[in-house]
Amino acid sequence: MAKDRIKRIAVFTSGGDAPGMNAAIRAVVRTAAYHDLHIFGINNGYEGMIDGDMRRLDIRDVGNIIYRGGTILKTARSMRFMTPEGRKHAYEALMAFDVDACIAIGGNGTFTGAKIFSEEYNIPIIGIPGTIDNDLYGTDYTIGYDTAVNTAVQAVDKIRDTADSHNRLFFVEVMGRNSGFIALSTGIASGAGNVLIPEVDTTLERLVELLRLGVKRKKMFGIIVVAEGNKLGSTQKIADKVKKAIDFYDTKVTIIGHMQRGGSPSALDRLLSSRLGFGAVEGLLAGHANEMIGLVNNEVVFTSFEDAITKEKKPNQNLVRMAEILAI
Ligand code: F6P
Repeated sequence: MAKDRIKRIAVFTSGGDAPGMNAAIRAVVRTAAYHDLHIFGINNGYEGMIDGDMRRLDIRDVGNIIYRGGTILKTARSMRFMTPEGRKHAYEALMAFDVDACIAIGGNGTFTGAKIFSEEYNIPIIGIPGTIDNDLYGTDYTIGYDTAVNTAVQAVDKIRDTADSHNRLFFVEVMGRNSGFIALSTGIASGAGNVLIPEVDTTLERLVELLRLGVKRKKMFGIIVVAEGNKLGSTQKIADKVKKAIDFYDTKVTIIGHMQRGGSPSALDRLLSSRLGFGAVEGLLAGHANEMIGLVNNEVVFTSFEDAITKEKKPNQNLVRMAEILAI
């Protein structure tokens, strides 16, 4: 779609929040202002779109937010938008504000909705990948992932102190839904002994074998980073079973949880958010539509929503191998 047709853009955040979403909103609003576009902020994701809960955003409205976690536009997972009726209301609300195009900041669910909506109503949408899980095809990194990993690493560093003092084996559960990116990076960066991720097949027997080897090598304490989506079961159950098999360690479980979703975004996330927010607006004006913007090999690229939501992104196998070798 050519620039002369796009005059009014709406931006929203949807799905789980991620540190850096505010920096992306800021970049979108300021780039839109630079191009003399009217920009609206929709509250509460698709829920607010359905209810017409939107307002004009000015360049000063997004001042002082680049360093803040969460999202000033709030976010939600909308069941109503999954229905044709909900999407009809959303379209009518956008038309009432004369919105020509949208920028959706979110993850897989957000882009699934965006794809259906844009096909039904022929409205151009660009997606910006905002999720701590880093599970989207078409970008090396998603907004919030780096900050979440930093938070998890800091937590493991602290757990390591007490694990060492008490000779304990800690199972530390991190987020990531069905993907193991957060767990793998956290494991490597915190020097964990083992990492359990859904993308790598393993068994409890193998884990026990590795831990026994560790005991032989005089590992007096241990950290196992467990992705919440791992295939061996709940972290507590894994810990209970390991405890039965190895009596050498006292075992403990820590679930870091939603701490990983909050906090001031890292510099890397602020940079990524700024680049993708800026690129999303300029991309729309250059004719991109119904695609997700991402960063691949440090270059801005666009990927169809179809590919972004259906193609699988897997952790680098070399990193998986390296994590095992460095943990001996
Ligand atoms: O997708 C982000 C994420 O934090 C996942 O890692 C996690 O599984 C999920 O959202 C938690 O969702 P909620 O905040 O709804 O509990």
